[in-house]
Amino acid sequence: MKFLIVNGPNLNMLGIREPELYGTLTYDGLVQYIRGQAARLGAEVEFFQSNGEGELVTAIQKAYGRMDGIVINGGAYTHTSIAILDALKAVSLPAAEVHLTDVDSREEFRKVSYLGMACCCRFSGEGKAGYVHAIEKLIEIIEADNTKSIK
Ligand code: DQA
Repeated sequence: MKFLIVNGPNLNMLGIREPELYGTLTYDGLVQYIRGQAARLGAEVEFFQSNGEGELVTAIQKAYGRMDGIVINGGAYTHTSIAILDALKAVSLPAAEVHLTDVDSREEFRKVSYLGMACCCRFSGEGKAGYVHAIEKLIEIIEADNTKSIK
């Protein structure tokens, strides 16, 4: 199975941005970690990070017909972007929402998630492990779906 791992704005600044919240792991370190864990799970992963909303929309559109699922940490666009929500709905791939921090225990405005409306599950506040749990969950969902269609 092949998954697109999407990271939104400011996640390229991991390791520098608010380390007391996000830790000291860099974006490259995060990619390496997810790659290793995905290999352990027998999954293929492709990464995309952008600070631009339109670029994120295009990356999601390009996943159509190529990927089995999407793991997305939309950063701040999580809480604002109807365009990214619509892109997720358009490709209709199983998608999992990830946040390094526990967004529900932060500011009020982070409690709203547009992207979550197109996602089957959410991993928030688990740090880098959230991405791996998201891949595991998507594999489980896709495998269950395949079994159903075989029956
Ligand atoms: C984040 C949480 C968002 O509210 C924030 O805007 C981010 C990162 C997280 O991973 O915890 O950029 O998605």
